[in-house]
Amino acid sequence: MRRMFGLYAFFYATLHVITYVWLDQNFDWMEIVTDIPKRPFITIGFISFLFLSALAATSTNVMQRRLKTKWKTLHKLVYVIPVLVVTHFLWSLKADYSEPLFYASIFILLMMLRIIYRNKVGKRKAQQI
Ligand code: HEM
Repeated sequence: MRRMFGLYAFFYATLHVITYVWLDQNFDWMEIVTDIPKRPFITIGFISFLFLSALAATSTNVMQRRLKTKWKTLHKLVYVIPVLVVTHFLWSLKADYSEPLFYASIFILLMMLRIIYRNKVGKRKAQQI
């Protein structure tokens, strides 16, 4: 499920970036290259897209085996990307921050569940030793 969700997010992000390149910038690559460092919210979106691309490119079983322990380290970016993307969304707005704040709450809730689950598994393992 995690791989599927990740690839789905990458697919969505790719469509979003194509929309920007095509509809917003009309394939003007010089304008795009100057826009990315000029507007901080675009810079953050671009960094998130680079991170998502790295995760999508290494999402296969073959890459998982090839990268070994480095794969786990690289895929920890999955916790950084939502923070960047919520910041990107918040920064793109001028008023009414409710939608990105809603996504931020979902992320915080999922992280809390993850911490609770980890602590439970950790305690169970400690009892087995
Ligand atoms: C090169 C990378 C990216 C660029 C150039 C970019 C550009 C933009 C722009 C220009 C907007 C404002 C749209 C408007 O209000 O007119 C925006 C909004 C948004 N971006 Fe990005 N973005 C990038 C990457 C991402 C990624 C990786 C994600 C999520 C995975 C993302 C999610 C969003 C969301 C949720 C919004 C607000 C809703 C929307 O307008 O679609 N962006 N982005």
